[in-house]
Amino acid sequence: MTKPASMKTPSATTQAIDETTQGRRLRRMRKTGWSRRMVQENHLSVDDLILPFFLTGGEKVEEPIEAMPGVSRYSVDMAVRMAEKAAKLGIPAIAPFPRESADVKSDDGSYIADPDNLINRAIRAIKKEVPELGIITDAALDPFTTHGHDGILRDGIIVNDESAEMIVRGALAQAEAGTDIIAPSDMMDGRIGLIRDALDANGFQDIPILSYATKFASAFYGPYRDAIGTLGLLKGDKKTYYISPANTDEAVREAEQDLMEGADMLMVKPGLPYLDIIHRLKSTFHVPTFAYQVSGEYSMIKAAGRNGWINEEAAMMESLMAFKRAGCDGILTYYAFEAAEKIHQGWHIGK
Ligand code: PBG
Repeated sequence: MTKPASMKTPSATTQAIDETTQGRRLRRMRKTGWSRRMVQENHLSVDDLILPFFLTGGEKVEEPIEAMPGVSRYSVDMAVRMAEKAAKLGIPAIAPFPRESADVKSDDGSYIADPDNLINRAIRAIKKEVPELGIITDAALDPFTTHGHDGILRDGIIVNDESAEMIVRGALAQAEAGTDIIAPSDMMDGRIGLIRDALDANGFQDIPILSYATKFASAFYGPYRDAIGTLGLLKGDKKTYYISPANTDEAVREAEQDLMEGADMLMVKPGLPYLDIIHRLKSTFHVPTFAYQVSGEYSMIKAAGRNGWINEEAAMMESLMAFKRAGCDGILTYYAFEAAEKIHQGWHIGK
């Protein structure tokens, strides 16, 4: 048979590749931007972003946090402006964390239950001015204790049941202030069930619980502790209540337990080093699953970017996409503003 003049004889290499790949060349679909977009499996949208931020006392205060360049603490009036910006960008929810002053801290963290503490004042102010924005609040005791632990410290032990009682009081105060979602990050046993019962008994049946079910004893929280002022306070570590970074089955059992007790959603924290946990929880329980790209993750990308060692924006967007690929329904990230702005500008990982 004679060959058409336009047909070229494949080189020996081409023939060898076609034989071993059986003609399957995966690069075909990666050739152009439109084609990459067309076959893209996961997508990042503004709806996936939740903004954590920090509160401080006073008025018109914005205090930069040294270990987190680009992130500040805001007084309540300024926090309202942040909330307006988040709503304008289409970010669904925010997660404020307070830096309370030393004079309101105590060994048992009871200021968490004060209706006029920073978090409760911020909830009321933001709900009044920006009602369309979701507010997610933590009920751990660490911003309120003199020792920086998430629970009550007695004779060197974080006592579980008393801590859980105080956490319930904090959660109720936040519900009364108007929070939308209670997200306890303390890891005390049984606190989800107690919070659910207390919410239900007080007319808050419709407030969901987002459990920080799988929170690991991680080194990546350092800059956050600087931000809320617990860095110098913290005595010892949190290994007796957070999960060991070496464990997976234990994380599944924690999540299962919290769901049984009434959690509506799960959180994995930190994020990027724990993508396997996200994937496993999502594929096991099929409930809304979130990740917290924590302060240390943020600061690492920021520092390398500032040094010119990586492209910060590209690394930020790639890390957020990784959460989607792992199965996340949303990501708490200090990059929420920047990422939302990039998405609005038409950013696309395939372009
Ligand atoms: C404690 C809490 C932590 C973070 C938020 N709340 C961990 C800790 O300090 O042990 C970390 C958030 C971050 O690193 O961005 N309840």
